[in-house]
Amino acid sequence: DSEPLVLGIETSCDETGVGVVRGTTLLADAIASSVDEHARFGGVVPEVASRAHLEAMAPTVERALAEAGVAFADVDAIAVTAGPGLAGALLVGVAAAKAYALALGKPLYGVNHLAAHVAVDQLEHGPLPKPCVAMLVSGGHSSLLLVPDVATDVRPLGATVDDAAGEAFDKIARVLGLGFPGGPVIDRMAREGTADAIAFPRGKYDDGTYDFSFSGLKTAVARWVEARERAGEPVPVADVAASFQEAVVDVLTAKALAACRAHGVKDLLVGGGVAANSRLRALAAQRCEAAGVRLRVPRPKLCTDNGAMVAALGAELVASGTVPSELDLPADSALPI
Ligand code: KG4
Ligand code: ZN
Repeated sequence: DSEPLVLGIETSCDETGVGVVRGTTLLADAIASSVDEHARFGGVVPEVASRAHLEAMAPTVERALAEAGVAFADVDAIAVTAGPGLAGALLVGVAAAKAYALALGKPLYGVNHLAAHVAVDQLEHGPLPKPCVAMLVSGGHSSLLLVPDVATDVRPLGATVDDAAGEAFDKIARVLGLGFPGGPVIDRMAREGTADAIAFPRGKYDDGTYDFSFSGLKTAVARWVEARERAGEPVPVADVAASFQEAVVDVLTAKALAACRAHGVKDLLVGGGVAANSRLRALAAQRCEAAGVRLRVPRPKLCTDNGAMVAALGAELVASGTVPSELDLPADSALPI
């Protein structure tokens, strides 16, 4: 085969992800998650994540190679998430990637986690339209990006100024006593409720920026629930979940489509863990159709953090002739896009 075989390593949060791709073809996507170890704390604990990455790294690499049916010697390049993310967690992946690159004598590519979330869609839906707008919504980030070229030119349009969208889901789930992670359970509960039952605020809706704010919404929901409890009245959990979820996805989709309109872009990509949200998918589809914008959403396993997305971007970097990283590549928890 002429296309390069790339091994991708992702450790920016709580998933140890190792993917193998050849060009834009997905060969393996192995994941070890420490999410269960964090559940009792109600959020990801950095030290716990770092130790879990350390333990999972070598076995997950072996599993990915076996799944792909390739050997170490077949690998043409190593890609790794250099940031943004949890510093200690990133460090484990970067150190491992350097060791593999050095031992195999293959080039190392440090990649940006957000750009990797965009590149992964090529494994499912083929080459990305140039340009496209990408909205990435997860527990760690909420960003709108203009993407003329995922390997060489990714421009930030806006981002959350406080909580990430997924973080808001997780915090509201805690307020409602629904457990962690909150997104999937709120998604499920919301189907039993009414989205316009309670009018929760939509932060920064009309401010003319592509930034998001979810902390005001979070506070409003918490206050509303507390007031009910203080009055000794039952909390209509399904209605709260549905109304909260609607407030989040309304702002997200409105801003994503405003970005497409402003830049004359006809393709919107939605990625990150919150892209699994059924109401976000439905409203995005509806608003994209009305605006004549094509919507691309990778399947849920490729939306959440994984190694295949890092390998996918690595393959793009190889194809674009990008110079590999040095072996002193730093992990950068605040790596800009
Ligand atoms: O991308 P991801 O796996 O990890 C990072 O945070 O980087 O995203 C996890 C986040 C969590 O906050 C989780 O609650 C949220 O995505 N999530 C959802 C849904 N599934 C996962 N949020 C809303 N609706 C969902 N169905
Ligand atoms: Zn992510």
